[in-house]
Amino acid sequence: MSSAQLEQHHLDLQQLQQVFEPPAAIQTRAHVPSIEAYRDMYRLSVSDPNKFWRQIASEFYWHSKPDGAEEAPILDYNFDLSKGGIYVRWFKGWRTNICYNALDRHVLAGRGDRVAFYWEGNDPEDRTSITYAELLQQVCRFANVLKSNGVKKGDRVAIYMPMVLELVVAMLACARIGAVHSIVFGGFSAGSLADRIINAKCHILITCDGNWRGTKLLSLKSIADKAMSICIEEGNPVVTCLVVSHVKRPRFGSDEADGDSHSSKPGIRPAKDCPVEMLAGRDVWWHEAMAKEDISDDCQPEWLDAEDPLFMLYTSGSTGKPKGVLHTVGGYMVYSATTFKFSFDYHLEDIYWCTADIGWITGHSYVVYGPMANCATSVMFEGLPTWPDAGRCWDVVDKYKVTTFYTAPTAIRTLMKSSDAFVERSSRASLRIIASVGEPINPEAWLWYHRVVGRSQCSVVDTFWQTETGGHVITPLPGATPTKPGSACFPFFGVQPVLLNPETGDVIEGPGEGYLVFAGPWPGIMRTVFGDHPRYEQTYFSKFNGYYTTGDGAQRDKDGYLWVTGRIDDMINVSGHLLSTAQIESALVEHPKVAEAAVVGRHHDVKGESAYAFVTLKDGATFDDSLVRQLLVIVRERIGAFAAPDTIQEAPALPKTRSGKIMRRILREIAAKSENYGDVSTLADPGVIETLVALRTRQV
Ligand code: WTA
Repeated sequence: MSSAQLEQHHLDLQQLQQVFEPPAAIQTRAHVPSIEAYRDMYRLSVSDPNKFWRQIASEFYWHSKPDGAEEAPILDYNFDLSKGGIYVRWFKGWRTNICYNALDRHVLAGRGDRVAFYWEGNDPEDRTSITYAELLQQVCRFANVLKSNGVKKGDRVAIYMPMVLELVVAMLACARIGAVHSIVFGGFSAGSLADRIINAKCHILITCDGNWRGTKLLSLKSIADKAMSICIEEGNPVVTCLVVSHVKRPRFGSDEADGDSHSSKPGIRPAKDCPVEMLAGRDVWWHEAMAKEDISDDCQPEWLDAEDPLFMLYTSGSTGKPKGVLHTVGGYMVYSATTFKFSFDYHLEDIYWCTADIGWITGHSYVVYGPMANCATSVMFEGLPTWPDAGRCWDVVDKYKVTTFYTAPTAIRTLMKSSDAFVERSSRASLRIIASVGEPINPEAWLWYHRVVGRSQCSVVDTFWQTETGGHVITPLPGATPTKPGSACFPFFGVQPVLLNPETGDVIEGPGEGYLVFAGPWPGIMRTVFGDHPRYEQTYFSKFNGYYTTGDGAQRDKDGYLWVTGRIDDMINVSGHLLSTAQIESALVEHPKVAEAAVVGRHHDVKGESAYAFVTLKDGATFDDSLVRQLLVIVRERIGAFAAPDTIQEAPALPKTRSGKIMRRILREIAAKSENYGDVSTLADPGVIETLVALRTRQV
């Protein structure tokens, strides 16, 4: 470190203890302009949720309400298993449509010409934009394409697409006709895609020829083809597959950069073909389906019950089998929109950019539904933050004058490793709010984000939430909350966090550390696990009766700030992707030479955590480079490249208790190269530790 860096480092460490007041410029225009105002609103939201959320719901369009709705409670729920099954209902009987609220409502209010998305391609010269009115027309047409293919209310539609505008069109078209979209992130393998299509019993798949990620061209359609073959073998065939031509495409929207050519910029977008095989009778090009003469631009929205399903999204389960988290129309609409408005202190003049892929919940709630319900203008980005170089994000911020930027700690840490010159070559003068999501943000990364990216003038908003929560549940509000680096601060309106003693289950009042749970529901909480309600009750409500269990631990400091410390179950968080260790283990044991496998998380400076695998081989098998390569291929094929362990080490035996339970705590210590094994008296064979430590140095 240079002396200047050293000085900065000391300064940063001092700042760790510091509280950052909301910047005055943000406070003066804020929806919630002080911590007192936050406290008043929060108090009402938990003491009288009916009053609080009824008021907020009145800002949306409801097609009809049952007789007596103005007096009847809007919330009905049970979190107590001793009293019967778990259920949550908000606005039951109220009819609406989220697509109507995200599009028609704005167009009818004269805002049709507002840009909904500035689409920025992987190639810095490739861009387009689309207004609310244009999107409405595309969505109606595509909704009619879905209908003409037999899709009806309640049907599940699988979507496997990159970050292209057609993905937004597909989601909203499903929502418009009451079909339930199930989006599978484009980084998942054919096997994972097939599992999800089969579990959700989808018979229609929407995909894309391929897409660029930096210099890599990914052929999504060929992965989808493999998945569809598996679906046939498993008796759940995909009947119609709609394919967007993106790599070589006719595109809608208004191209601002130039007309039609992608290949005219040699060196930026390599002229490479993306061969696609179309199966007659099943595969249909999106643009051909949309161009048909009998497809109309008119499509009346289906008026759905607030408790009808809107979408499902799979998340890792600790048993290894992914869970289809189900969200419903009304509560999710109100909650994603309201958290967007307050957590990012959104105003119509803002330009907002969330870098998350729509294939994850952050993309659902904060690229599509939350922003669009607020008629926001957003940037949507196909590429990578590090391509063509580490300055890409900040160039894009300047290009579109982004005011509100939302990304993940793993991206912040990656960019932080490059020279600050990449940041400083941009002005970032438009930025006001910089936010983070997906994993705990370490104070060093928080401070760099604040000081370098935000020029010490922005509010940093660390939002804690989950696929299951639908929207932010713990977060500072930019104009109200004095922040502490690394803390997600206080609960959002209507959310009641509680810390429980892990052993006794007793409530921890005041400062302390324990399991993070929530008492009572907020509108955006998931309603069930698709097709498996007992699993919903078991996973989230059986550990501590009366509470929703997050699976995370948290600390509360003397000022009441909450610090989420990470997962306390067998889940690891790699670059903000939640992975089940059991799922990686079951992929590893598919190899004929592997008898047993145990995967743990290990600290990683950039990714937060990385997967570290211990494998026990069958008698006679040898552990070598080629085996490791084969194991990595299996994990990539079964789950996806992002799940591949960073380290695979041989384990002649695993540390087990006498009853045969693997002591993962010890494996975590070995992986971390710490000698802190704690109590090992319950180990059946304490010699195992020494063997594993010796083999650690011999990893191939
Ligand atoms: C972790 C992502 C600390 C946490 C929206 C949670 C966080 C899991 C934060 C959910 C944060 C997310 N601070 N940890 N601000 N945000 N997490 O379902 O462990 O992909 O349980 O939803 O990410 O991941 P999921």
